[in-house]
Amino acid sequence: MYTQLEFRDSTRPPVSLATLQKMKSEQDKIACITCYDASFGVLVDAADADVVLVGDSLGMVLQGHDTTVPVTMDDIVYHCRATSRGIHRPLLMADLPFASFPTKEIALANSVRLMQEGGAEIVKLESGSSQFEIVEFLARHDIAVCAHLGLKPQSVHKTGGFRVQGRQTDAAEQMLANAKSLEAAGADVVLLECIPSELGQRITSALSVPVIGIGAGPDTDGQILVLYDVLDITTGRKPRFVRNFMQDAGSNLDALRAYVKAVKDKSYPAPEHCF
Ligand code: KIV
Repeated sequence: MYTQLEFRDSTRPPVSLATLQKMKSEQDKIACITCYDASFGVLVDAADADVVLVGDSLGMVLQGHDTTVPVTMDDIVYHCRATSRGIHRPLLMADLPFASFPTKEIALANSVRLMQEGGAEIVKLESGSSQFEIVEFLARHDIAVCAHLGLKPQSVHKTGGFRVQGRQTDAAEQMLANAKSLEAAGADVVLLECIPSELGQRITSALSVPVIGIGAGPDTDGQILVLYDVLDITTGRKPRFVRNFMQDAGSNLDALRAYVKAVKDKSYPAPEHCF
């Protein structure tokens, strides 16, 4: 307990947006995972994850809430700062939590907090047509942005639950159009949650920026999972896209390495993880 965390050597170049763009063009899959503290940060870095997200999922897996709605800016800043101390190579992404981007000016002020106080390199916001102007404003202020489409957990009270999105033709076309508009507005990365694989494939091939999926099928440029799902720490009902990587692993680090390997060699997600 009284030892220092064992930080990785810093000889490997850090992942940047340019790295992700190159990976997309070379069809080299991008392995992303959530993380909320320095100790796990050291492990996900050692496992060679490319992107680490300090997600508002921390409200559910760390704080025990039923949704991500109660998560505050202070929560994300605290966990982002802790995570940033554990990682060297992965790109550090942080969520703008519920109601932290009601106007473009507030979105900018909160993004600056995530970067200056939390050490984030890119901010993620749950997006739709109402966020085009915000994304454009952030991009104009040199903030790297990930636009999150599909299932948007911050909206569950409005949309009526955690459900697969984009199954109907109209909804699918609208999501594709929104993804293109968000890219045009300056989004550097798009994240798709819980949508049919076919729509994941269409959006990924329509965009020039890297597209990361969670329950969005095998054809997105990368995959992301919640750390506690990968390590089978989460109890209760698991979403279809979750795979327990602890099952055949001797340690947390082995499980994280198995996850990164499965994303890279495309064995995850398998058909049983897709919609
Ligand atoms: O908060 C989070 O962990 C996320 C992922 C599920 C993508 O947004």
